[in-house]
Amino acid sequence: NYEFLPQELLDRERGHFLRKGTVGDWKNTFTVAQKNVVSLEAFEIRDSDIFLVTYPKSGTIWTQQIITLLCEADPSNDIVYDNNLETMPWLESPLDMPDYSLRPSPRLFTSHLTPALMPPGLEDKRPKIVYVMRNPKDIVVSYFHYCHATPKLETPKSFEDFLGEYLEGAVLGASWFDHIREWYSKRDQYNILFLTYENMIKDLRSEVLKISKFLGKNLDSSAIDHVVERATFRNMKKDPKANYEFLPQELLDRERGHFLRKGTVGDWKNTFTVAQSERFDQVFQERMRGLPLQFTWDIQ
Ligand code: A3P
Repeated sequence: NYEFLPQELLDRERGHFLRKGTVGDWKNTFTVAQKNVVSLEAFEIRDSDIFLVTYPKSGTIWTQQIITLLCEADPSNDIVYDNNLETMPWLESPLDMPDYSLRPSPRLFTSHLTPALMPPGLEDKRPKIVYVMRNPKDIVVSYFHYCHATPKLETPKSFEDFLGEYLEGAVLGASWFDHIREWYSKRDQYNILFLTYENMIKDLRSEVLKISKFLGKNLDSSAIDHVVERATFRNMKKDPKANYEFLPQELLDRERGHFLRKGTVGDWKNTFTVAQSERFDQVFQERMRGLPLQFTWDIQ
């Protein structure tokens, strides 16, 4: 039983080799999200699948709205779901554990996963992947507010505390730096379109056209105008299918916040101190070194 081992090799106060000896004990430990990641190993990717991938708070539900509207405008589309979450469910945390294999093509999915955790086959099957990036300083501010609005996440003690956790990657979604680097490193292997939140703010119509072209949609100018109009912050905020106010109270406490909060570029300047910004820039320079990516935002 290996209890004969010396203390430095086995601390009997803390455990034993013969621990439980059962099958399926993982079910007592894994969270729902972790169980789903495991179950994704059996997920079969189709060529026609469309994945929206982001690090949290990068403009996910905004881009969901655009992709959903572009697909709904396609005359070949005959399914309309109740809301954007049902249209483009998260791969890693389906709310009611649906069997995704029963969904008709083209299937639309959202994910915050890194490439290593995605279902196998992204390279061989060539599904379309839309990846949205955002200034990581604006992300951390947006995320800080979001933590107050969702009872599922721990409320940060202070912005300073949360910033520290974010820089270490100790938040849901792990490290922004790793997320960007890992997805960007797949740019030649995957069929992937990189977008930025900042460009969407600057010229929404151009970015909608870019997405439409990437998805192979052939929509006329008035159909594109319609998508742009419905994707503005003001209109999305009152769109019950798109604004995520449909979430149950345990996922969104409306007294404390909303998904559509400010929708601006550079809000970090209202929150960061000079010292915090300098610390951030230093980590940014170190962690992004060697990445041949031109960021559109002004990190200073
Ligand atoms: P802020 O908190 O800075 O306002 P995600 O969907 O990845 O969780 O990202 C949420 C962020 O996207 C929020 O940022 C939210 O306001 C912003 N957002 C959502 N829809 C938007 C829109 N139509 N236009 C601009 N920003 C939008």
